[in-house]
Amino acid sequence: MSFCLESPLRALRTDNQLLARHNTVALADSLLITGASQLLTLCGRAPRRGSSLSNLGLVKNGALLVRDGAIAAVGAQAQVEALAEACAAEKLDLGGRVALPGFVDSHTHLIHAASRAEEYELKIAGASYEEIASKGGGILNSVRKLRATTSDALKTRATAALKQFAAHGTTTIEAKSGYGLDIASELKILRLHKELAAEQPLEIVSTFLGAHVVPPEFRGKPNGAEKYMALLIDKVMPEVASQKLAEFCDVFCDRGAFTRRQAKTILEAGKRFNMTPRLHAEQLTRTGAAQLAVELDAASCDHLEQVNKSDIYTLGQSKTAATLLPGCDFHLGLKKYAPARALIDAGAIVALASDYNPGTSPTLSMPMILSLACSQLRMTPAEAITASTINSAYALRREKQIGSLEVGKQADLAVFEVADYREIPYYFGVNHCWMTVKRGRVIHAAKQATI
Ligand code: NIG
Ligand code: FE
Repeated sequence: MSFCLESPLRALRTDNQLLARHNTVALADSLLITGASQLLTLCGRAPRRGSSLSNLGLVKNGALLVRDGAIAAVGAQAQVEALAEACAAEKLDLGGRVALPGFVDSHTHLIHAASRAEEYELKIAGASYEEIASKGGGILNSVRKLRATTSDALKTRATAALKQFAAHGTTTIEAKSGYGLDIASELKILRLHKELAAEQPLEIVSTFLGAHVVPPEFRGKPNGAEKYMALLIDKVMPEVASQKLAEFCDVFCDRGAFTRRQAKTILEAGKRFNMTPRLHAEQLTRTGAAQLAVELDAASCDHLEQVNKSDIYTLGQSKTAATLLPGCDFHLGLKKYAPARALIDAGAIVALASDYNPGTSPTLSMPMILSLACSQLRMTPAEAITASTINSAYALRREKQIGSLEVGKQADLAVFEVADYREIPYYFGVNHCWMTVKRGRVIHAAKQATI
């Protein structure tokens, strides 16, 4: 069996400056990556619960052999080099840096037209998220902006964001619609997910969030929410399904958005259109959405600031991921973060995501989310890394393909300019990501050392 192929790109070698000039460089068909002082493989059982969240599968002086975009060997450098000996693999020396699976950001609202910095000032002055929303701000502000923005302009903004995701070590994102809220605008967003997935290197997992809030044109009508739900179910979902535009269906189940009963109707309809449920749950108030998520066998329920003891117990016993989004509480200046320690102790599959969006979490930096998870949710650095790699891959039902560095999986890597993985959350607010690799291709290389 031919194992390693001669590469036409031998000159690339370990020249980081050259890599920096080519942000998306196809490296060799076979690539030997050496010199990781700590290689966090995350190998083993997936998803991780309880004490196994601390198991990073750390290999000192680790190496990886990549072939055709997938991991062909992984482990101690001497062993991997021996396996690669007969090959003409390209070599990439990480120079003692720390390497881990690329972050899987399992909750983003990628496509939006603009920031809401004007609301940020109101919030600082004391207005609550719900007060702003009740005056037509919040999500409806973003809906107005998106409807008035061309697909091209949305694409330009999203493309720039995707480059930034990659620059912070993220290799897969989930992306939700939900700022369109009419048939044309929702489809415009979902089609962009598909186009962007095909045209740039990050993997995009598409979610239909038509049930974000009831749009303005339905608010004044009797039974407006029900009429809007009928539009979603009878008109939008068939289009989404026939054009294969979304893998998941999400609902914002909260005060001011959709009730638990309405969420159930929408998610059950989504299932009939082959969309797996996920939920915005227990963010502002407790609605029972986390229990609903488990009942519907949702892939994940996200936020969870307001869960009670029985929700924590239910999530601990369930297969539904509990995705925590500490960027929201940080940005909104809220004191009540999700009870990560209780969820971990109960055995829940805790995942972390950015919730990148213009209203509650305008960040796409997973390293920053790790910092918040450690300092505010009291997760250890190891738990936070597990939650944002293998467990968030599970939250997207992709734990067999991504989220750990194991033979046969995609070669998706983030390399950090640090000597110890704990320094990734420790240095908050500064990006120390040195290189990002997606399916064996370098998609980001830092121009210079970051420390
Ligand atoms: O995840 N909570 C609902 N959706 C977003 C916020 C959206 C917005 O404010 O624009 C969230 O926090
Ligand atoms: Fe969200």
